[in-house]
Parts: sequence; structure tokens; C-alpha cells
Amino acid sequence: MGNDTVTLTDNATGKHIELPVLKGTDGPDTIDIRNLFKELGYFTFDPGFMSTASCESKITFINGKQGELRYRGYPIEQLAEQSSYPEVCYLLLYGELPAPQQLEKYNQSITHHSMLDEAIRRFYSGFRHDAHPMAIMVAVVGALAAFYHDTMDVHDPVAREIAAHRLIAKMPTIAAWSYKYSIGQPYVYPRNELGYTANFLRMMFATPTEDYESNPVYERAMDLILILHADHEQNASTSTVRLTGSSEASPFAALSAGIGSLWGPAHGGANEAVINMLEEIISSGKGLQHYIDRAKDKNDRFRLMGFGHRVYKNYDPRAKIIRKICHDLLAELGANNPNQELLDTAMKLERIALEDDYFVERKLYPNVDFYSGIIFRAMNIPMNMFTVIFALARTVGWLSHWMEMISDPEARIGRPRQLYNGYQKRDYESLDKR
Ligand code: CMC
Repeated sequence: MGNDTVTLTDNATGKHIELPVLKGTDGPDTIDIRNLFKELGYFTFDPGFMSTASCESKITFINGKQGELRYRGYPIEQLAEQSSYPEVCYLLLYGELPAPQQLEKYNQSITHHSMLDEAIRRFYSGFRHDAHPMAIMVAVVGALAAFYHDTMDVHDPVAREIAAHRLIAKMPTIAAWSYKYSIGQPYVYPRNELGYTANFLRMMFATPTEDYESNPVYERAMDLILILHADHEQNASTSTVRLTGSSEASPFAALSAGIGSLWGPAHGGANEAVINMLEEIISSGKGLQHYIDRAKDKNDRFRLMGFGHRVYKNYDPRAKIIRKICHDLLAELGANNPNQELLDTAMKLERIALEDDYFVERKLYPNVDFYSGIIFRAMNIPMNMFTVIFALARTVGWLSHWMEMISDPEARIGRPRQLYNGYQKRDYESLDKR
């Protein structure tokens, strides 16, 4: 291997190719294999993208070995400590922290896009009352395309910015209304004098008979959760948004696809799965060790939800921050915490797993979802809303990636190849011969 190329020799033919090594500003160097098929006639095989960089990006950097996460260069710890979610949104979207007037202008724009068209309100009544709010969110966000797509040129940066502001602004309304519909309560409209997080909590918890009493502890905890979930580079849902958007589809359709991807329990659905698991552990009375043993058993599909991560082979830095928020919030609630048993079980599980060789050897640490579910539970947020809140937080990340991709002059439609292992050519047999 030279300084900036890798030579690949085909042992079968003796042909070789010099592949350029691309150097990013941080993280592993990347072998540029774009000419491989043209020159040697090979594809590469990497299911699950274990070693494949699918794009170039300037948004978020993760060092999985060190357990580091940075948005636009800023360590997540500093942003969590000193910033706010709207400021982080601005940073992710535009690349720099906003000056005060820029932040004010951004907040103004978001505030003034938070209402939904009244026709969208009527969509909700088409769902069964027990519909999962994620299912409603996938549908409603996709349906926004019907309201804005015809006037939208994805190659126009102003149109992209308006679409991004609309989505960030409307997501709390869409999320809260999904919840209100599922419990049969009237929808609460956004209020312009409230900040992003306070507005969301009010739309979730206020009713026409009783306004929501603002709680700064909950608001700060929610703001932090939104910051921690705002972006995470090329994960399954973000890659889905990029791939969908690469065909120049509407950003509303691309985000709807991303929400669908996030829903799965191996991704954003894990926070809900964690609480289900903890409740099962408590109600079964079988003890924690039984579940640890099941997680280690290769013949059992059970996994400890909220443990492990594809990229982090060290403590998830978000988990470190959220763990503290979790403990602070629960200390604040004190005896008023109706979820003490759940929390105690979670903390015991965390302790046992962190000391168990199986988890230590595989570097399986608690991830962000292990704690976020517990915090939401303590804030009386219903379980089926956990992933919805993750989607709300991640909207800005998805949009930042979508905008980066569309404005990249080298962007082209995403089209993976395959290793075909099905039948070779065979002839059709008529029905009477089969
Ligand atoms: N419980 C028990 N064993 C596990 C777990 C777990 N939660 N996670 C991974 N392993 C084992 C796995 O069986 C494998 O063992 P072996 O090497 O003996 O075959 C080894 O650890 C490596 O696992 P992997 O499946 O190859 O790792 P992956 O990168 O494909 O999967 C993951 C990552 C997050 C899907 C997986 O760790 C998992 O299913 N965790 C539980 C679900 C979860 O908490 N997801 C939220 C992720 S954080 C939020 C987000 O980014 O969306």
C-alpha cells in the first residue's frame, strides 16, 4: 500500500488496479472503488455496510472506538451542556452556530410554520384509534407532499430551505396530534409565544379544559433528548432518506421513508422495546440472570434491548449524558416517581451486563435508547410516543443530510449492486406441466 493508493491484484488474471485512498478530515481513510467494476469487472460485497462509506459528509462525526460524537465539529457534551435544540438545528442545517440575529430569524420562521393545513387535521380521523402514532406519522409526513410538492423544485436552495423549515416546524404538531388522536382528546394548536420544546409538551398535555403547566425540568430534559438524537451520520433511517431523496423525490416522501426505517426495534424503536423488556422482566418474576442468559444464548433470538451499537465499541457518549439526565430527573421526582421498580430493574441490569464477560468482550454498552425510554416513562409520556419523539428530534438530521446530498454536484441516484445467487436462466413451463 502506497501513501495514497491501494493496489488490488486479481490473482485469476494477473491484472491490477491502483485504487485511490481518500482522506477525510477525521476518521479512517477510505478506498475509492468507483472504477473497480469498470476496470476489473468486480462488485464488492458488504451487506449491512460494515466497511462501506456510502457518501461524503461534513455534518456529523463519530469515533466509535473512543466513544466520541460531534455535530459540525462540536463535541456533543459541549452542545448538551451549553446549547439548545433550535441552536443545534441551525448548526446541523447551516454548518455554523448562529449569531443571535440568525437564531432569532430561524426561530421566527419555525414558529410561523408550525400549523398544519386544516385538511391534514381531517386525515387523522381516517385512522383506527389504536393506530400506532408512528404509523400515523409515516402517513401524515408523506401526505405533506400532496400539499407542497407540486410547487417544490428540489434543485432550488430556497425551496429546499422552506421545505426543511416546514418539516422541522410541523413535526411537533404532527407528533402531538398523533397522540391526541390515539387517546381521543381534542387537538391542541401550537402557540407562537412558546419555544419549540415547550410548545410540543403543551400540545401533548394541554386540554381545552386545563392548560399545560410548564415544567422547566421536563422542558430541559426534553430539549437535551432532542439534542442528543438530532443526528447520527449514516444510520439506517438517514441512509433511507438519502437513498429515497437521491431519485429527486419530494423531501416529505423521503422523510416519511426515514420515519418508517427508524420505527424498527433494532433502530429507533429500541427505546420502546427497552420498557417492554423491563416490564416483562418484572412481571415474569424470573429474575435478571434468566434474561442475561437468554441474551447470551445463540439459539434464542432475544437480545438485551438498549445494549450494543454498530458503531460504538465503547460507551455511547449520548448514553453517558442521558444517564445523568435520567438520574437527575428521577432524583428530582423522588417519591413521586411511579416507575421506581422499573428504574431499579434497569439500573441492576446495567450493572450486571457491564460486568458480564459476554457483554464486556463484545463491547456491548448501554446505548442512548436504554435511558431515553426510562426518562420518557418518568415524564408520563406514553410508550408508543417514544420513537415518535426520536423521529421529531432526528428530522433536522435527516433534512441536513438530504440538503447536503441534493446540493452535492457529484450526487447521483443511489443504486446498490448485488451478488446474485438465484436460479440461472431456465425455461417457462406451462401450468399443465407443473
Ligand atoms: N444483546 C445480546 N447480544 C448482543 C446484543 C444485545 N443487545 N447486541 C449485539 N449482541 C451480540 C451479537 O449476538 C453478536 O455476538 P457474536 O459476535 O457472538 O455473534 C455481537 O454482539 C455483535 O453484534 P452484531 O449483531 O453483529 O452487531 P450489529 O452492529 O449488527 O448490531 C445493534 C447493532 C444495535 C442492532 C445490536 O447491538 C442490537 O440489536 N441491540 C439491541 C437493539 C438496540 O438497542 N438498538 C438501538 C441502537 S442505538 C439507537 C440507534 O442508533 O437507533
